[in-house]
Order: sequence, then C-alpha cells, then structure tokens
Amino acid sequence: MNDYLDRPIILVIFGITGDLSQRKLLPALYHLVKHHQLPKNLAIVGISRKNVPVSEVYDSLKTKIHGDDYDKTVVEELHKATRMLQVDLDQNDDYARLLEKLRDISDELGPGVSRLYYLSIPSQAFVSVVHHLGETGHHEPFGQDGERPRLLVEKPFGYDEASAETLVKAVDEHFGEQQVFRIDHYLAKETAQNILTFRFQNPLFQSIWNTRHIESIQIVAYETIGIEKRSVFYEQTGALRDILQSHLMQLLALITMEKPAALESHDIHKAKLRLLESIDPIDPGEVGTKAVRGQYDSYKNEVSNQRSHVETFARLHLNIDNEQWRGVKVTIETGKALHEKCTEIIVRFRANEDAPGTNALTFRVQPQEGITLSLQAKRPGLTKETETVRMDFDYERAFYGLAGEAYERVIIDAVRGDQSLFATAQEVLTSWRIVENVIQAWAADGKNLRLYPVGSPANEIV
Ligand code: BG6
Repeated sequence: MNDYLDRPIILVIFGITGDLSQRKLLPALYHLVKHHQLPKNLAIVGISRKNVPVSEVYDSLKTKIHGDDYDKTVVEELHKATRMLQVDLDQNDDYARLLEKLRDISDELGPGVSRLYYLSIPSQAFVSVVHHLGETGHHEPFGQDGERPRLLVEKPFGYDEASAETLVKAVDEHFGEQQVFRIDHYLAKETAQNILTFRFQNPLFQSIWNTRHIESIQIVAYETIGIEKRSVFYEQTGALRDILQSHLMQLLALITMEKPAALESHDIHKAKLRLLESIDPIDPGEVGTKAVRGQYDSYKNEVSNQRSHVETFARLHLNIDNEQWRGVKVTIETGKALHEKCTEIIVRFRANEDAPGTNALTFRVQPQEGITLSLQAKRPGLTKETETVRMDFDYERAFYGLAGEAYERVIIDAVRGDQSLFATAQEVLTSWRIVENVIQAWAADGKNLRLYPVGSPANEIV
C-alpha cells in the first residue's frame, strides 16, 4: 500500500499562487511531507504567469497551519523541493520549455518517476491548457517503461453541459480516462467515505433504505464565510456550479446508489452513474418551483457589480425516478455567509399509524463528524409524553480523531493511481444535465433572487 513512497515524483502545479492552491493544496502538501506520506524524492514545479520567487509561494503557509503544528523545517523542505517556472499559458513554446525542464528533473531524480499535473486554474482555461499539454507531448511517458503522467483537474469541470463535453473531449484526445483524476474533495472527506460502509455493512439499514420507509433526504452544505477574495471566480461560478452540481450531487449519489457489485473503483462508479442517470433533469417550466436562489446582502459590493445576480445560495428539489426512490422528497442546498458552517445529510423516515413518531438519521460530514439517529422516547416519570432523543456516533470519540484533511487523501490517491474517490467524465456530464435548465434560466435574469442578510439561517431563505 505504501510502495508509492519509493517512487520519485514530480508534481507540476498550474496556478500555484492561486487561491485554491494556497488554501487547500499547499497546506495538504505541508502535512503530507511532515508526516512522511509523500516520496522523499519529490520535486514540485510551480507554474505561474508572472515571475514569482519560491519564497512568495510559501509566504502565507504559516497563517494556514495551526499553532504548534507549524514546523519551519517542513516549509524549508518544501521550499527546497520547489522550482518555479513562468509560463504563458497560450504559448506552445513555453510548454515545450516546461517539458525539457521536467525531463531534466526526471533524470536527476532517477528511474521510475511519476509525473502529475495539477490544474488549479479557472475552468475557462482548461481546454486550451489541456490541448497545449497534449500538443507538446506532456501526456506521454518519459522513456519506454515510464509511467503515463496523470492529470489532476479541479472542479468545476466545465461551465455547463456543453463546455463540460468540450473539456471531456479535449482530455480524451490526449490523455486517457485512466490518466485523469477529477477532484471532488468532498468524496475524500472521511465521513463521505463512511457512507458506503455504513449503508452496505450494516444489515439493519439495508432493508429500509427505500421509498417505503424514507420520506425525505436533505443534503446541506452551509458556510459562514462569504466569497472571500474570489470575486472573479465567483462571478463566473455561483453556488450552483461551485458546490451543488459537484459536491452535493456526489454525496447524493453515495447516499442513494444501489449496492455496487464490489466496493471497488469501477463498480462504485458504475452504481453512482446509474443513480445519477435516474435523477430527472429539472424542466425549464419547473425552475420557478424546484429551484431557489439567494444572494447575501453585501455580495454586490464585494464584487463591485451592482447588477450581479449571481447566486450565493442555491436549493434544488429533485426527483429520483427509480423504484427504490420514487416519491421521496430530495433536497440539496448550499450557501455562503449563512449562520453556521455545516455539511450534513438528513434522512427522515416515514411515520405510520402504529408508530407516529419521527425518526431521522443524520450523517454529519462536518463539523463534529459522525452519525446521529433521532428516536422517540418516553419522558421519565408519571407521564406518557414522548420526546425526541439522539443516539450518537462521534468520530472523534470513537476513533480518537480523524485521519486528516480531504485534500491530503486526494493527493495520495492520485499519486497511488486509485480513482475511487474521483469523479468520472460521465458522472460529471450527467450532473450538469440535471441542472442545465436551471443554469440557463438563472443566467437570463435576476428574477426571484432572494437577498439575505449575512449570517441568515438557511431556512429563512424560501
Ligand atoms: C470548494 C468551493 O470546492 O469547497 C469553495 O469552491 C468552498 O467555495 C469549499 O468554500 C468548501 O470546502 P470545505 O471542505 O471547507 O467544506
């Protein structure tokens, strides 16, 4: 399992100075290096449009690592492993120069080098960068026995269905599906990974996981932060593309897909896709009733665009049209600048005449990762009154902590070549198809955009 540690590796990071890389990727690399979970023989090549010194790349790392966890020697190690290269993303010559540099580094590192290209760049630039990489030979292994390089792509994969198709085609043209790792870091969160174990290794829940017993499934991802300094990105993206079409659609697939033939990458992806394909795309005529959008009140000022109707909150009501789920109310929603940071999946069970109480199972993806079952219990004493009580499984208490940040897992899996926790092209395209009409309708005008004060509870946005 850890044999990847013996192979030298070159990690090429496009957009190393960008927000995502600074917020998630570099802290993850820091932790992996600190805990010896990356090969010692590691080279990082940072790509930037401007001439940026290595020291600047790691400048802000200190603010991202908590207190005692910060170790200067680890930063020095990263610093030493990193070389920067200024690249004009539109110039084939620059990609050729990059390839030469990578060959030199590869020779220095020795035989059997794995090469990973991490694209942390605006989705509009993907297609062109992928073509340039392909046209200049970056997709080929170095030497006859070399490993095919891998491409790590950050979401959103495309901008809508058509652009996602173009992206998939461009990637297919040069890199095979086996070489592509489409990151959805929610899939690498420990509690998301536990969903399949919980569902398929506990016989208790298997027979009741259907429309006869389940009334509704609600998946929420609330954030307290606003868009921070990502105005340009967010103005082109919005909540629907940023979180709903990717992270939440993937969580929905995990919670509702049929049992895969085996808990292996290929079978999991097959079952996930079948489920996504059974979700009814929202019709143009249904957008008004099935989709809700909102925007927090200071957003327009933050992006300096008083006419912006980009949503910072999105809610969709979906219908899964298969025997297992037909008739279950499915809601997915996300928002920024809300009253709490919380991602959870709430499965509510049906009451019946014999048992009118309410039961719900809540998967807390973050924070306080765990699972809670709500039950009805009789109050103590001379009363018949009942109350809702909770049975709690808490990761922290049960396992003395979690395994690490999702991004750390993402990087290790890509280095090891395990695609289980990455989204396939077909999954991505199907998810776009479900929301396509909402995207079109919302782009057309700002009708029914609810303005909400920063810090609002999500249930007030209706
Ligand atoms: C990213 C989004 O994918 O997920 C961000 O682009 C969002 O807008 C982030 O803040 C949330 O991730 P997490 O792991 O903090 O829930």
